[in-house]
Formats: sequence, structure tokens, C-alpha cells
Amino acid sequence: MRLIIAVDGPAAAGKGTLAKALAAALDLPHLDTGLLYRAVARQMILAGLDPAADSGEQTAHALQPEDLQRNDLRVPEIDRGASAVATQPPVRAALLKRQREFAMASGAVIDGRDIGTVVFPDADLKFFVTASAAVRALRRYQQMHGMADPVQAELEELAAEIEARDRKDAERPVSPLRKADDAVLVETDHLDAKAVLAHALSVVRSRF
Ligand code: C5P
Repeated sequence: MRLIIAVDGPAAAGKGTLAKALAAALDLPHLDTGLLYRAVARQMILAGLDPAADSGEQTAHALQPEDLQRNDLRVPEIDRGASAVATQPPVRAALLKRQREFAMASGAVIDGRDIGTVVFPDADLKFFVTASAAVRALRRYQQMHGMADPVQAELEELAAEIEARDRKDAERPVSPLRKADDAVLVETDHLDAKAVLAHALSVVRSRF
């Protein structure tokens, strides 16, 4: 089936994990749209541009598939650069086209911030994945440092960074982070990745 499934939500809520697993289970391609914004920020920095001050429009148009495959796209400098460049309407317009083209051929599971509201407002199914800020910070910390007891000061710094990024994403005038009215809300505070996938698959099966 050529389904388009949108998965939106704030940072570190588990939307990427869900989108990837859902795509594998349903045999659909997966697109992590955060990588597009991250790659634009990285290419700008490499070119000596500041994602928070300079236009990223040309960089967004010139983005190559291999730019999405760098292993340094998830570092704090790029977290900040991506969320800065994501406020620029011409950058969003350039990336919109790529996102739509990706899913048109054979459907897709696409995760991001504005997939259900702007990129695919008519998606067959929309999920909005969320969790409390404390849980999200702990998960991101464990991804970065493993499962040992967290260093409290580092955890707090991470929580502050995540909250700052969420605020920026939710308050920007263009394509803010927002749950689409028809999105299924998935709160993951008390669910592990397996349980989130099982729940999402049960929603898919109840609809199609
Ligand atoms: O999802 P990820 O954390 O990798 O996204 C990085 C940044 O890219 C987000 O903080 C957000 O500012 C931006 N983004 C966006 N719209 C999307 C996906 C990501 O604005 N669809």
C-alpha cells in the first residue's frame, strides 16, 4: 500500500525510533527530515556561513544525498544550527519540495516537526509523539553516554538545551512544531520503543 505516515514531535521523544521501526514493519521508505535541516546547517558552517545569521537558501537548494550521510550531524553545534536555519522560510520552501518528492513514488514514513501540518497535511495517518522534558533529556543522555547513572549537572544542561530547541521550534512563525488536529497523540513517558511500535501498528491496522 502506498501509505504516507507522518510522525511529528519534539526533540528526543522517540519519533525517529518509531518512524524507522514503523517503516521497516510496513515495508515503506523512511525519511528523517531533521537530517535535512542538520545537513544544511553543517554545509553552511563548512562554507564559513552562520546558520543563525546568514541565508541558507542556496545551501538548501544545493544539498546532495551524501550530505545527509555524515556521521557528525548529531553534535550540539549542529543541533543549534539546524534549529536556527529551520526558522528561515526560503530554506523550508526548498526542503519542502524534496520531502514531497521522496514520498510520492512509493509512500513513506516521514518524521519531523511539521509533516502532518505542512508537508503532508493529507497524510493517510499522523502520529504526534511526545514525552516529558525530563524523560526526553534522560533518553538523549543515555544515547550519548550509555546507561550508567547520569551526571546531574550534564543532564540538566542537556534538558535546558532540549527545552530551548523545543521553544524555538514551537514559537517560530513558519511551520511551528504543533500537533495536527487529526494526529494520534502517543505519550511515551511510560512506554519503551517496542511498546510504542506495537501501539502504532495497532492504530495502522485499525485504519487500513
Ligand atoms: O529532528 P531533529 O532533532 O534531528 O531536527 C533538528 C532540527 O531541525 C529541529 O530542532 C528543528 O528545528 C528542525 N526541523 C524542522 N522541521 C522538521 C524537522 C526538523 O524545523 N520537519
